[in-house]
Order: sequence, then C-alpha cells, then structure tokens
Amino acid sequence: MSFRQLRPRLPEAVEAFYHRFFTARPDAKPMFSTDIELQKNQLVTALSLIVKHISDVRMLESTMRRRGASHQARGVLDEHYPVFREQLLETLQQASGAAWTTQLREDWAWAIDRTSAAMINGAKDAADDTRGADDVNHRAA
Ligand code: HEM
Repeated sequence: MSFRQLRPRLPEAVEAFYHRFFTARPDAKPMFSTDIELQKNQLVTALSLIVKHISDVRMLESTMRRRGASHQARGVLDEHYPVFREQLLETLQQASGAAWTTQLREDWAWAIDRTSAAMINGAKDAADDTRGADDVNHRAA
C-alpha cells in the first residue's frame, strides 16, 4: 500500500498512537500540546517527512538534522526515538489493515531509522555547538 493510499486512514489511528507512546514514555507527555487536531496533523506531517526524506536523502538530511536540534531544545532525548518508532510501526500496521506485509514493515522501519539517525545527529551537533560556545565564554571570562 502506498503512502498516498494510507495517509487518509492515519488520523483515526493517531489517538491510539499517543496513548501508547505516553504510556511507554510518560516523561514525553508534557512536551506535547493536548490539541488532538494538532497532534493528528503533526503525526501525518512527521510521516510525510519520513517518506520525503527517503526519496531525497541528500536534500532532506540537513532539514532533518535541524529538526533534530529543535526537538532536542524541546527536551526530546535520543532514547525517545526507538519508542516513537515502535509506536509508529504499530500505527502504520493498524491503518494498513489487511494490506500490511513484512516487507512494508521492513521498509518503514528502515525509513524511520534513517530519519531518526539524522535527527539524533543534528541534536548532537547542536549540543556540541553549545558546549563550544560555553568554552569560548569561559575563556573570555
Ligand atoms: C522520526 C522521528 C520524528 C519526526 C520525523 C518528527 C517530526 C515532527 C514534526 C514534523 C513536528 C511538527 C513541526 C515541528 O514543530 O517541528 C514535530 C513536533 C514535535 N515532536 Fe517530533 N518527530 C519525530 C520524533 C519525535 C520524538 C521521538 C519525540 C519525543 C518526545 C518528538 C516530540 C515532538 C514534540 C514534543 C513536538 C511538538 C508537539 C506540540 O507542539 O504539540 N518527536 N515532530
């Protein structure tokens, strides 16, 4: 099943996604808005970005790194990503119904991993930059 076919079925599965994600990582809950419509939009956007990232890795690598840095600024930790991944896969499976296959799961898992890796690297770079700035300030003081 293509993402275009899957997309309209996603919003329905979003509530369950957040419920499972927050059960696994209650620490992430306060980072999110409670507006369910916003949550639906953002999850569909996140998945669209993953799909785009995979079809144009080079162009989107830098975008995803920047997004990783802004996620880190919100308090997102590296260890949240694998939990997010599992819940996304579960959501995609639910939304796909009978069309879900082992191959689809493998393709999505690979795409989510690549995107997460770019975001985590971006978060690391941002943390290194901040530390660098602290060093400079320290030396100047
Ligand atoms: C492949 C992984 C992910 C992708 C592609 C992704 C993508 C996005 C996008 C597109 C948005 C909305 C635009 C923005 O504000 O940046 C967003 C918001 C957000 N994401 Fe992620 N995200 C990912 C993983 C995570 C993880 C692991 C967390 C962990 C807690 C997280 C927490 C958030 C939060 C707190 C917001 C703001 C929500 C709000 O304002 O209600 N994201 N994400």
